[in-house]
Amino acid sequence: MTTIRTGVGDGLTARQVPPPAAAVDILLDCDTGIDDSMAIAYGAGNGARFVACTTTHGNVPSATAGRNTVTVLDALGLTDVPVHVGAHRPMAQALETAEWVHGEDGLGDAGVPASTRPVAGHLAAAEIVRLAHERPGELTLVAVGPLTNLGLALLMDPELPQLVQRVVIMGGAVNTAGNASAVAEANVWHDPEAAQLVVETPWDLTVVGLEITMLTAMPTSAIARIETSQDPRARLIAAVFQHYLGVYAPIIGERTCVLHDPLAMALALEPGMATYRLARAGVELRGELSRGQLVADLRNFDPDPTDPREPGVVRLVDELDVDRFHESFLRALGA
Ligand code: BDR
Ligand code: CA
Repeated sequence: MTTIRTGVGDGLTARQVPPPAAAVDILLDCDTGIDDSMAIAYGAGNGARFVACTTTHGNVPSATAGRNTVTVLDALGLTDVPVHVGAHRPMAQALETAEWVHGEDGLGDAGVPASTRPVAGHLAAAEIVRLAHERPGELTLVAVGPLTNLGLALLMDPELPQLVQRVVIMGGAVNTAGNASAVAEANVWHDPEAAQLVVETPWDLTVVGLEITMLTAMPTSAIARIETSQDPRARLIAAVFQHYLGVYAPIIGERTCVLHDPLAMALALEPGMATYRLARAGVELRGELSRGQLVADLRNFDPDPTDPREPGVVRLVDELDVDRFHESFLRALGA
């Protein structure tokens, strides 16, 4: 077993999250997106029951993310998972997208034929609220894009935090460099006000940030297994991630990529793959150079929080069994 560490732990407060039931009911909010596609594939192969997917601006415009999400779901045989398009821009700043990372079509310009299945328009936040009321205490909310839809849902319904079982987001860069600015990770940077709404809410929030996801680069042997597999799931991901490999190879120094969004999905489904530290956190909203930074207080002189449902308390990843994570990903692709 290979364990990787973020360095956010204090050696005292590492905590396991209790294991979930065999299948987990997932409501996925995404900006699909190459690694969002990988997260959907990871979930499909590892016990996620997708109740619905909602989409946000971020990697691509929200409508493109909706089309891509339904395309990936259909390609994986998940043709009955509804998709709802959501917020088309951030709460308090202009829209910016990241086609240079994900391709003009958001799926690596690999020529993946787009699904023609209808996608519901604009009301993603209302759908999150509706589903949470329909299934109180049952849903795990996984958000792997900017947090505008979740922020809107929180503004709409003060009961939402009590209705959701757990929330897992991919976002932030605690104790490490950002990827959208020197200190900000893309999902938080795209909509800092929405991210702050999510962080300050008293719910059980796991934050999967760059401090751990940047350590998840697959070994080149795993890349080869995906690229040589004849399984249709592996062929899909091998097609869409070529563009991503081109982006990450110069950063990492070899032909591979990291698995941001799949790790959030993995820790929603199998939280025991990692250990965690609780910390008080907030999003920098005003800094000229630091707007969009997720700041966590890792100092030890204050008593560490013990309750993840305290406002502003988040669960940060301390250690991850990265081999187990990679093997689960490969298994999900049949590679
Ligand atoms: C996050 O930003 C997007 O590019 C990825 O899909 C991921 O959710 C990584 O910072
Ligand atoms: Ca994403």
